Order: sequence, then C-alpha cells, then structure tokens
Amino acid sequence: MSTPIADRRGPGPTAPLSPHDYEAAARDRLQKPVWDYIAGGSGDETTLRADRAAYGRYALRPRVLVDVDRCDTATTLLGSPVALPVAVAPMAYHRLVHPDGELATVRAAGETGALTVTSTFASTTLEDTAAAATGPLWLQLYVLRRREVTEALVRRAEAAGYRALVVTVDTPRMARRERDLRNGFGLPPHIVPSNLDGARAQGLHNGQEGVSLLARHAAAHHDASFTWQDLAWLRSLTRLPLVLKGVLTAEDARRAADHGVEGLIVSTHGGRQLDGVVPALEALPEVVAAVPEHCEVLVDGGVRRGTDVLKALALGARAVLVGRPVLWGLAVDGAPGAARVLSLLHDELEEAMALSGRPRLDLIDRDLLRPHPTFVPPTDRDTTPR
Ligand code: GLV
Repeated sequence: MSTPIADRRGPGPTAPLSPHDYEAAARDRLQKPVWDYIAGGSGDETTLRADRAAYGRYALRPRVLVDVDRCDTATTLLGSPVALPVAVAPMAYHRLVHPDGELATVRAAGETGALTVTSTFASTTLEDTAAAATGPLWLQLYVLRRREVTEALVRRAEAAGYRALVVTVDTPRMARRERDLRNGFGLPPHIVPSNLDGARAQGLHNGQEGVSLLARHAAAHHDASFTWQDLAWLRSLTRLPLVLKGVLTAEDARRAADHGVEGLIVSTHGGRQLDGVVPALEALPEVVAAVPEHCEVLVDGGVRRGTDVLKALALGARAVLVGRPVLWGLAVDGAPGAARVLSLLHDELEEAMALSGRPRLDLIDRDLLRPHPTFVPPTDRDTTPR
C-alpha cells in the first residue's frame, strides 16, 4: 500500500495528528477576536453545533473481504480532475491567520490535489491567487448592489482561469454573530478586501464594541434584492459553470436545476447565517434527489474526519468542502500546515474506504449507512467560547 501523504513529511513526535490537534494549536495562536470570527456562528450557534453533530447520527456498515489493496480517491469536479473529493471552502481574509494568506492556502491545495474556492472577500487578489495555484480554482461571488462590480469580478475570474462561479445565496445580509458584536470585530489595518476597490473596500477597519464591521459592510454592499429572475442576468454574463452555495431544500434545488445551474453546495454557511436551520448533512439527500444527475451536489459544514467525508459521499455528495480546518492548519504552519490538514483528510478517507470495503468512490452508497443506535456526539472544540 502507498505511504499516506500526511506521513511522508515525517511529523515529529509532537506534530498535530488530526484536524482537532490543529484546532487546539490555532486557538492558542490566534487573537481572540480573530479566533471568534472564524470559530463562531450566528444566534445561539445551534446550527454550528448541529452541523457537526449530524455526522454522529450515522453508523457505518462496512463490508469485508473486498480487495482494497488500492483505494482511489480521485474524482472530477465539474470536469476538473482532483485527487480527492475534498475542496477548500470559500472563506474571507486568510491573512487574518497567516501573512501568506490565500497564496499559502492555494499552494497547499495544489500540493494535495484539492480544488480551492476563493472568496470575493479574499485578502489577496484573485489574480495573484490564480498565479500561485497549481490546482483548479472556483471563485465565490457575492452579488453586490453595484452590479457592475460583480460583472467585473466575473470578467476577472474568466481572464484568470477560474473554472466556475460559486454564488452564495444564503447571505442577502450577514446574520447577527454575537461574538463579533461583543468583540467589535473589524479588520486590522493591513488587511483589505483585495478584490474590491473604492467605497467597497472601505468601512472594514477601526472596529467598535457592539458593531460587526463585516456585517455592516455586507448590509451596505450585498444586493438583498437579488432573486431567481436575476440569476438569468448572471447566466447571460458568462459561460463559466454556476454553482449555488447555501441551498437547503428540495424546492430551491429543483428551481436551481430549472435555471440550469451546474452545481449546488448544500451549506449552512458554517452555522453563520440563519441559526436553527436543518444541518447541511441532513438536507443533503433531499437536494440530491431533487436535481438531475449532471448537477453536481457538494456539502460543507462540520467535516473534520475522513469518515465524515465517507458519510457525506454515501448520502450523495460528489465532494465536501472544508473551511475552518484549513484555516487552523494555515494559522499553525502556513502552507505546510494547510497542506497537512488536507493530506490528513485524504489519508483518513483512503483508510476509511479500505476499512469499509469501498475501494472506489462510486462504490460509496447509502448501503454504507444506518442510523446510529447510540448517538455519540462527535468531538468538537470550536464551539466553546474562549
Ligand atoms: C463571510 O461570508 C462570513 O461568513 O464571515
């Protein structure tokens, strides 16, 4: 059997061995407001916890005496070959946790063979990120009130070689996130939304208690009047595939498919938008069932282990996205840390495939799962406020 990618680097005796270890180390390193911004959710953080807990509701039904000498984690995402069905979720401002920011993340993803979704609110331009990338890139888009700004982002994404646009549809405004309000969260002076300029790059610094400058910025600039009718406008702008992120119901999934979108991401926005929604993993089967086969469905929220990836795939996801764990790796050790988190997920998935008798991704199906007879809450450290 091949050497697991994560072990090739030869970790020392104290090296983090799991995404959870990176979480603990990142928490020690980051300033509280930054930690809270990344770790936190909206409202009572019910969804933040539920997304994670959902993975504990399923038990695996492994099959034995299957030839698992070689397990293949490679697949394609909207036609782009990837080494594993784990992509980097779009997240704002990676330079909050490491000076190399998105450049390090994208190098890490390339090294691991993973796809990256770059955020509109990146702290590096989408062109610089593309120049550092060796793996496929999608660009996450917020539709802004000034449509010409969104259109310019689409043009820039096309020119820079991004392969799809991920339109976030669960954030007409940013939900109340009490950690950020308490911390008066704003960006440090050296971090800016590098993809934006003019008025849209202003108003994110000089935080004040009781205000989240990021939420205030979203209220000013996100187009909360954007609807299904406007999707046709976006479609008319580009031939890039469109992926909607933040769909949680069969009704919206069907509507999206009727509008010809190529992909969906079932997501609660990491528990950061409407609190109390159905966990993404629980919403996944109805979304998968509602769309034609060619529409690729991904899921994010709460993925921390290779067995989580296995469960999401068994419920019909083509791939998962991971957010916070990548930032933990980045915070602890820059590009090598982020790469190691992704490698750990790869290796854990490969092991889970071997031990469950599913050597290929297309063999991972619903028969692999049953409701867990004794629900054991999964390990989780990021919901405990510091
Ligand atoms: C941005 O999308 C955030 O969740 O902070």
